[in-house]
Amino acid sequence: MTNKPKDWVFTDPRLQDLQQDYDAYTEEDFKVWKILFDRQIVNLPKAASKAYLDGIKEIGFTADKIADFADVNARLSKSTGWAIQVVPGLIDDDLFFGLMNNKRFCSSTWLRKMEQLDYLEEPDMFHDAFAHMPMLTNQPYVDFLEKLSGIALKHIENKWAIELLSRIYWFTIEFGLIRENGELRIYGAGILSSAGETKFSLSDEPKHYEYDVRKILNTPYWKDKFQDKYFVIESYEQLYESLPEIESVLEEMVAEEAR
Ligand SMILES: [Fe+2]
Repeated sequence: MTNKPKDWVFTDPRLQDLQQDYDAYTEEDFKVWKILFDRQIVNLPKAASKAYLDGIKEIGFTADKIADFADVNARLSKSTGWAIQVVPGLIDDDLFFGLMNNKRFCSSTWLRKMEQLDYLEEPDMFHDAFAHMPMLTNQPYVDFLEKLSGIALKHIENKWAIELLSRIYWFTIEFGLIRENGELRIYGAGILSSAGETKFSLSDEPKHYEYDVRKILNTPYWKDKFQDKYFVIESYEQLYESLPEIESVLEEMVAEEAR
């Protein structure tokens, strides 16, 4: 990957030029968005991180209007310079990281149905938008995402390396906690889009560990139930500053595996 230009992803034939078709959202879609939004927003003032709470205002999400990506992109271009890339669902790892390495965050545009309010096989746009997009207004957070993706691209041919990096992504971007004024707060999108896990993650039930790159790289995760452990950062700068350690421990573990 090193001999490719950084923006190779935009000319990759697998990348489809998809847009959000806002007029296609139905009355039920608007109802689902509102129910999910109203149900979760009340939990967040005491649970979500300041960056998220500032971000959701900056990005302009409300209960009555499904997130409009054209508006999100206009706002993001003024804050961190990131943008939303519409994708058909799951995409290849190299495209996923290639997009983030170019300041594009992937999102689906479909919304869950009324009968799937609490359980989903695959993340829908409520998760992608409501939970992820507000954090894209935070500069050290997106800088971390961009550089982490650069590390992933360097190792993209190695499945074990990508598995290890997905643990970092999982325990930070999806399930990360931060300590603010001595209290635990959520910045991970997998928690922020789940009312149940919002409560659970901050309770005394799961273990809360200090952010520890080596420990995370050695911690497998599960996708179909609440985590039994969460990692707590002190700041988003801490994530960014841990990138050299992520790269060196990763290379060490990849070399060990190859032996
Ligand atoms: Fe996610």
